[in-house]
Amino acid sequence: MSERIAIYPGSFDPITAGHCNIVERSLGVFDKVVVAVLNHPSKRAMFSAEERVDLIQRVFEGEARVTVESFGGLLVDYVDKRGSTSVIRGLRAVQDFEYEFQMTMMNRRLAPHIDTYFMMTDAEYFYISSRTVKEVASLGGDITGTVPTLVAAAVASKLAEGEGS
Ligand code: PNS
Repeated sequence: MSERIAIYPGSFDPITAGHCNIVERSLGVFDKVVVAVLNHPSKRAMFSAEERVDLIQRVFEGEARVTVESFGGLLVDYVDKRGSTSVIRGLRAVQDFEYEFQMTMMNRRLAPHIDTYFMMTDAEYFYISSRTVKEVASLGGDITGTVPTLVAAAVASKLAEGEGS
């Protein structure tokens, strides 16, 4: 049987403990997971696409079945290029559903051979998002446990850089 490769796309600005939980769960179902970081130059981000890729690579350093790349353009074109037909997305609360539903149906219209699979994180990660992590950190709050330790350090040094400029 050929290898089952899942593409896990997102902004990952930065990767959170919830994202990591989804990657780990996906490894239980797929042979390989490609974490695909959206490279969107016009989108305001804390970390550049290269920095986000580097952080995620470091988080999954010991896991040979996880690859990290950045992509631009349409997700479905990237999934085709990567030789996959499976996209993974995480679902937290009900409010995620409408956006995910729209994206999935649009992607299906563009590429009916590609399926999107939804996973739920462990309950302890339900409320975590990259946006709230950045907000809490920028206001001096403690983000320990919401992101991997090396990501928390990277957020802290990014904020310190900003203060210095
Ligand atoms: O982490 P995010 O920001 O919710 O991830 C969104 C992402 C990267 C999955 C989505 O914006 C995307 O796939 N962008 C690529 C462009 C694309 O294919 N758009 C059509 C989907 S409706």
